[in-house]
Amino acid sequence: SPPLDELIASLTVEIPDFPQPGVVFRDLTPVFADGPAFGRMVEGLAAPAEVDPRAAALAAAGGREPAFDVVVGVEARGFLLAAAVALQAGVGVVPVRKAGKLPRERLSAHYALEYGTATLEVHTDSIAPGQRVLLVDDVLATGGTLAASTSLVEGLGGVVVAVSVVVELVGLGGRQRLAPHTVHALWTT
Ligand code: PRP
Ligand code: HPA
Repeated sequence: SPPLDELIASLTVEIPDFPQPGVVFRDLTPVFADGPAFGRMVEGLAAPAEVDPRAAALAAAGGREPAFDVVVGVEARGFLLAAAVALQAGVGVVPVRKAGKLPRERLSAHYALEYGTATLEVHTDSIAPGQRVLLVDDVLATGGTLAASTSLVEGLGGVVVAVSVVVELVGLGGRQRLAPHTVHALWTT
């Protein structure tokens, strides 16, 4: 079978001018719908547990395995991935949601979209101080979504050990925006 990046690339459908003129939208739904591709994608997203040097150092020092305590997924497409990654790793999953969806005490982060702003929220009791978090989403574009999610996790005292995405759209500055966090992308384009 092909390398994972080639497999993801071959199953992704590019749609010009969606959701607005000038944008080439990468539709990953066919990758999710393919059983073997989905399985390999989920395994790959959990890989920072092994490749992150800080995680490796922790493990060498007798740290727990895996190198994260919880997976955080970002609404909506991140949910499909985060739950699967968490199940495979044997840890729990926590949702970062769009504004107005979570019923209890929550922390909010406002972030910029290409046009306008949006808000993401997390329940304040969903992450404990010092918990090691693997943050998961499907696409890293400008990084606004994952930067806001990182600030929510850290606002609760969590430690983002890595950010895992299926595809990084290079040239939009997302990786730079998330620095110094480790960004692990299965496919960069
Ligand atoms: C998309 C995508 C990422 C984000 C990436 O989600 O799933 O979460 O945009 O863009 P950024 O790096 O520029 O922030 P979207 O906001 O469209 O929400 P959805 O998952 O509910 O469709
Ligand atoms: N595809 C899917 N989601 C996205 C994209 C894209 O090209 N850009 C920002 N979010």
